[in-house]
Amino acid sequence: MCGIVAYIGSKKAQELLLEGLKRLEYRGYDSAGIATLSKSNSTTGDVASLKVVKAVGRVANLEDKLEDMGGLNGSVGLCHTRWATHGGVTEFNAHPHTDDRFGIALVHNGIIENYAALKTYLESKGHVFKSQTDTEVLAMLIGELYSPAEGIDLEAAVQAALREVTGAYAICVICEKEPDVLVVARKGSPLSVGVGNGEFIVASDPSAIVSHTSQAFHLDDYNVVKITRQGFKTSTIHNVAVTPKVVQLELDLEEIELGTFSHFMQKEIFEQPKALKNTFRGRINVQDSKVVLGGVSNFDRDLVKARRIILTGQGTALHAARIGRYLFEDLAKVTSHDEYASEFRYRNPIIEENSIVIAVSQSGETADTLAGLREAKDRGALSLGVINVVGSTISRETDAGVYLRVGPEIGVASTKAFVGQVAVLTLLSIYLGRKRFMSSEHCRELLTGLEQIPDKIQQVLEYDDLIKKVTAKYIEKENWLFLGRGYNYPTALEGALKLKEISYIHAEGMPAAEMKHGPIALITEGMPAVFIANKGPQYEKVISNIQEVRARGGHIIAVATEGDEHIKRYAEDVLYVPDVPECLSPMVTVIPLQLMAYHAAVLRGHDVDKPRNLAKSVTVE
Ligand code: F6R
Repeated sequence: MCGIVAYIGSKKAQELLLEGLKRLEYRGYDSAGIATLSKSNSTTGDVASLKVVKAVGRVANLEDKLEDMGGLNGSVGLCHTRWATHGGVTEFNAHPHTDDRFGIALVHNGIIENYAALKTYLESKGHVFKSQTDTEVLAMLIGELYSPAEGIDLEAAVQAALREVTGAYAICVICEKEPDVLVVARKGSPLSVGVGNGEFIVASDPSAIVSHTSQAFHLDDYNVVKITRQGFKTSTIHNVAVTPKVVQLELDLEEIELGTFSHFMQKEIFEQPKALKNTFRGRINVQDSKVVLGGVSNFDRDLVKARRIILTGQGTALHAARIGRYLFEDLAKVTSHDEYASEFRYRNPIIEENSIVIAVSQSGETADTLAGLREAKDRGALSLGVINVVGSTISRETDAGVYLRVGPEIGVASTKAFVGQVAVLTLLSIYLGRKRFMSSEHCRELLTGLEQIPDKIQQVLEYDDLIKKVTAKYIEKENWLFLGRGYNYPTALEGALKLKEISYIHAEGMPAAEMKHGPIALITEGMPAVFIANKGPQYEKVISNIQEVRARGGHIIAVATEGDEHIKRYAEDVLYVPDVPECLSPMVTVIPLQLMAYHAAVLRGHDVDKPRNLAKSVTVE
């Protein structure tokens, strides 16, 4: 979603800000803007002037504009990529927004829910608005409250304004009247301050910080930080002092750069074997039939008593959660459900005693998942997180959890996080199963299989050229089906989601048996139907479903187990995956589907890492 970068130091702000903004492009946006404060000498001393430049579309458009006008001076500034919520994609609605009195500029991630009431109040005070956004209301409100003569400086005005606001925000604010100050604040939307030598770089995502400093602190909700070149002062919106903890950012620059790959999605698909090895490191002890999960071990007693597990998430994370549901019932013998967090949070869910809610999320910032988690906690459930981003809001609000450790995921289409989520849910279900009914032999068998998954994924990746060729055969087709059963029904959903989100081809995923209850009407001559037909308990049933599609002219692309020659009788194309235990199979069967989606998007000429209308982290409802 929206991205924020701000800077105060001795360097030219524009260059640093644009470099940071480019690192955040992956999050998805539709317009961009920048503001700096530049000082000039006048007879009355130094005067600062605020310059704001905005452009619709890519950051490159903003760069072109800046170049045409000779660029912006100044060593204090802020910038933003906007993903439209309130008001269309226009320059007026792009950030930074300004007040109409003091040269205040503000960038904002999140939503000010009571903006309409605040706007009415501000209009009654004579303020005139230029945009349709909630953010401009906040800029005006800070200006309305700003009164240096009464001791209300920029920091105090920001604190006072935020006391009036309901909603979520990460904001950065500068002001012509205080040219050596940057004020930033957060509630519900992430913001970190990178601490350099005489300089500070603030960003909504640490990837915009790491090339400058690895020391940073993450703001907590309701924190306001006043930053000067000399240092920073942190307080709450009620002006109570806070001491933030400066930490080392666990982010390697190499992890957020493309290297030899063409796209981040491609890089992330290919780094899955390495990523999974990292997920498993220190957590699998085959010899002792043991899963080691330090992040949840304090809650072993609650876990053993669990009577119901509810897994929530959105999109790809929900697909992983659905596989998790099968795993928990199968391996740990606990009644389990999965549910879109967006539905769960509003439907007055029943949470009985000994219920566990597991929030599954790559970013740890998804608004619906966070709200669902809070709802479950309020109703007394033990909450666990299966999260990738360390220190994210959900990871901090859960009682306990297990990190994915797959490294930063930059590609908007989630790939390695999905496999990481399934892997962690598998570890958790074996962990729990072992504490309940699972024999040490069964556990050892599963862990042996699990440890081999990274190599098995590697084997599938070797078929990349073939997968590309098969995809190319069907590239003109506008409607695809993805079908699977059991553990691979959610994999089919994931395959369809991947294809549609980056190639814009219409795709439906469903349980293979469901097809004949209606969707079979869609099948026309030559329509591609991808079947996950690996060897497993439902193999024969899947073959019957394949025949139903073939009989109506559909073309079958089968994801099948290495060595299965029989399947060739029924499928136009076969993509092989190695043989693995059924409950572990989604981690390998999803790989050809990810690669098909990737190649389809590239073959159709789409920008794989910046799919239209999508944002990496959905921090609005
Ligand atoms: C699809 C995709 C989304 C996310 C969903 C949840 O490729 O990335 O469907 O899975 O928005 O995001 P997280 O996992 O960050 O909660």
